[in-house]
Amino acid sequence: MFKRFDESEIWDLHNDYFLNRGLKAWSKGEVPYTGISNYFEAFKKAIFFYECLGNLNKELEEIKILELGSGNAEFAYNFLKAFEDIDQKNYFSKLKYTVSDYSQKTLDELQTSKKLDSYKDKVIYLKLDINFQMNEIQDHEYDLIMCNYLLDQLPARVIAKDSLKNEYLEKYISIDLSSSEKIKKIRKQQKFLTLDFQKEIKLDHQIILDSCFRPNRTSTIIYSYGALRAIRRILFKLKVSGIFIASDFNASSKPGLDYFDPCFYGNSLAQAVNFEFICKYFFNEDQETINHKNLTKKEHQFILMYEDPIKPLHTLILTRPDYPKELKLNQAYEKIYKQNVYLRILFRYLVEMKFALMIFLIIFLLIYFFCFFK
Ligand SMILES: C[S@@+](CC[C@H](N)C(=O)[O-])C[C@H]1O[C@@H](n2cnc3c(N)ncnc32)[C@H](O)[C@@H]1O
Repeated sequence: MFKRFDESEIWDLHNDYFLNRGLKAWSKGEVPYTGISNYFEAFKKAIFFYECLGNLNKELEEIKILELGSGNAEFAYNFLKAFEDIDQKNYFSKLKYTVSDYSQKTLDELQTSKKLDSYKDKVIYLKLDINFQMNEIQDHEYDLIMCNYLLDQLPARVIAKDSLKNEYLEKYISIDLSSSEKIKKIRKQQKFLTLDFQKEIKLDHQIILDSCFRPNRTSTIIYSYGALRAIRRILFKLKVSGIFIASDFNASSKPGLDYFDPCFYGNSLAQAVNFEFICKYFFNEDQETINHKNLTKKEHQFILMYEDPIKPLHTLILTRPDYPKELKLNQAYEKIYKQNVYLRILFRYLVEMKFALMIFLIIFLLIYFFCFFK
């Protein structure tokens, strides 16, 4: 039976996997993590946060950090280590880091593993489901909330706009659970069905989503409503001077009807996040181009940037509307931003060069064979 993508059984398999697999998800190499949770990745975030704290110019009593979906806590460990290495203002002694996840099994195994024991007095373990339990923590509590590869775990819909017929469509999926136990190998069928955009999409999302489609071309986008809902809840948990940082893969619009699967790791899935939609939601000004620019406004301030010149890995830094200072890229991120701009230009140039060379080669071969066989 065909179900809407976000209501399909593959999401149940995904949740079962993370709730029950525990630390084996990482130790058996099923979920990749070294590239995204390593010391350097954590260092960039730690120094950014450290400098934001310094810019506040005020005496801090306690510094509270919450990480959601911490998994094997590789990132948490590296963040704490980096912060300790950077610290010259005695902030580290005031720091409390809450490691949270919706999997009690993962949290229990993490505690038993003693991985974070060198920071025992700083770490709090908390079972927290970002979809259902955010009201269990206090509002205006945290100086920093982070999500590393969590937003891509949250429900999303896949919708398309047919530019010729001016109609909207949505991806449906049918899976044959008897075909395999592995989410990647399960037989799947997909189709796009008509979507009543006005009726089925929230009013305040409609214009923003519409602006994410490619103009005058049929295209497909990800409707990351789960990620947006989570971020809105997270912002309530920040102090006025608090900061939210999330890293994830970005889903830009794709030409035509896009039948690509999400990524499958172990028995989980990762659906790249439509950061354009999320940023436009918080910075709703149509004329602005939002990509990779540091935009400031009276309302929410955010920075969205490429972390990698080739892979669509993005980091979003977002504040509450009443954040008291101007949010700026610090030196570490500025360097990466500039480096990536140049590397991206080079990468595109090489891709285009390769394409041009291939065309040249094909023409050359055609002429050669034509002359040879004549
Ligand atoms: C891809 S892993 C990322 C783990 C870690 N943050 C990292 O960077 O390696 C996703 C993690 O999010 C957790 N997770 C998934 N859905 C969640 C939810 N609704 N609420 C809280 N945690 C969730 C999973 O249990 C898993 O530990």
